[in-house]
Amino acid sequence: MSTYIERANAKLQTLFGRDDFLLAAIESSCDETAVAVLRGGEVLSNVISSQIEIHKRFGGVVPEIASRAHAEAIDNVFAEALKEASVNASELDAVAVTYGAGLLGALLVGVSYAKALAYSLDIPLIAVNHVEGHIAANFITEKELRPPYISLLASGGHTEITLVTDSGVKVLGSTVDDAVGEAFDKAARVLGLPYPGGPEIEKLAKEGNANIEFCKSYKNSDNLNFSYSGLKTAVINYVRNREARGEAVNRADVAASFQAAAVGMLADAVLRAVRSTGVKTVSVGGGVAANGYLRKTLQDMAERESFKLYLPEKRLCTDNAAMIGVKAFLDIKRARAHACDLSLDANPNL
Ligand code: KG4
Ligand code: ZN
Repeated sequence: MSTYIERANAKLQTLFGRDDFLLAAIESSCDETAVAVLRGGEVLSNVISSQIEIHKRFGGVVPEIASRAHAEAIDNVFAEALKEASVNASELDAVAVTYGAGLLGALLVGVSYAKALAYSLDIPLIAVNHVEGHIAANFITEKELRPPYISLLASGGHTEITLVTDSGVKVLGSTVDDAVGEAFDKAARVLGLPYPGGPEIEKLAKEGNANIEFCKSYKNSDNLNFSYSGLKTAVINYVRNREARGEAVNRADVAASFQAAAVGMLADAVLRAVRSTGVKTVSVGGGVAANGYLRKTLQDMAERESFKLYLPEKRLCTDNAAMIGVKAFLDIKRARAHACDLSLDANPNL
């Protein structure tokens, strides 16, 4: 008699090269419980249950509460995703799941659920790296995106600029301290804005002017690395010093100035990456790519510098399962995926 993993591997072989198989994808790495159903690269449903309201009163994601909320939501989110896609669980050919990076307890909910599904339906289990999911998000709507391209990932956990070619991925620059999304969240907190800070800063910045210079040095740096710790500290010091002196703080100006500096660093790195590599295609992903000011800055730059810019729709920039599904789909189609056995573990630091 064959074992589960032998059957899963055999089944996976039959999916290689195809683009008509049914795939469920699960994402639970942080504060969104998400399930998507895909037929090939086509997203049939993409259900997201956000925990933002639960965590808001704590000013950030509380890991234990996140795990519990995932466990409570996942069954319904899965059922809704199937229903919206008009698919029965028994029709699924494979299940993909985020196994890292993220919060351990949160990841474990998705991983355990996916394992149970894979085993009970006797289908392959595909483990997906969350960051690679963000990078793949552009493929959901842009089927013609092909290497070589510059990829900018700007999320709450990662800030990285890479050169993707047919032979692999080369890191051109990455953050040496905080991620850009983290800096948005921290700047928002100093300004008394709720979690998550990115969209709040963006909103407030529209009412202000970018007239405060928080950091002078980033434009002169001679590599493509990012540093957000200095910018964050500059914002904190500016606000605290003014408050200590009893001076008024124009919060909208602080938000606009912070956003201009944070986005300026990303845009500057993209420009230098395009110029130094000569590669004229740029793909952007991650939660911060939902930022309207960043989008506009890069769109203007793309026009000026004549490069092709790929930006996922805003709802596909922040955490979702469709991006996890599309990453698994591409790996399966290209015969690069492998089936995991049931010892698959979550890896928070992947
Ligand atoms: O990619 P993501 O959803 O989660 C991971 O970190 O993987 O990114 C979340 C981050 C948060 O820091 C959030 O504040 C930021 O993305 N973010 C934004 C915007 N929407 C989300 N930052 C700036 N402007 C936004 N509109
Ligand atoms: Zn993410």
